[in-house]
Amino acid sequence: MGRIIGDGGWYFHIVDMAVLPEHQRRGLGDAILKTLLAKIRREAPPAGPGGDGRGGAYVSLFADEAGRRLYAKNGFAESAPKELGMVMRL
Ligand SMILES: CC(C)(COP(=O)(O)OP(=O)(O)OC[C@H]1O[C@@H](n2cnc3c(N)ncnc32)[C@H](O)[C@@H]1OP(=O)(O)O)[C@@H](O)C(=O)NCCC(=O)NCCS
Repeated sequence: MGRIIGDGGWYFHIVDMAVLPEHQRRGLGDAILKTLLAKIRREAPPAGPGGDGRGGAYVSLFADEAGRRLYAKNGFAESAPKELGMVMRL
């Protein structure tokens, strides 16, 4: 499984990436991630003028150790030190 959180704007957060242990390392995580990214590419509003000049959808996630290689292969890069993820539990 895998989910996208978004509100119709340019920001998308990918969460809950998980494959049952007995089915891991067979390409399912890669297929799920590619499906989610294709959906974002289809549905995100087009890039507008201004901003930092890059425009387009901003996709974020928190990568556990198990997922880092998978995410890097699909184009994700570490945001730190420019931007550091910060979290809080309520
Ligand atoms: C992360 C996870 C979703 C990957 O799913 P998957 O179906 O096993 O992944 P794939 O078979 O598509 O493999 C994709 C890449 O990730 C790598 N990978 C998969 N599991 C890994 C692990 N446990 N440790 C390190 N790398 C791993 C694979 O090596 C592969 O890269 P490669 O083919 O170039 O070597 C899965 O391991 C999982 O559910 N883990 C437990 C839950 C979890 O930690 N989820 C949060 C991730 S942020």
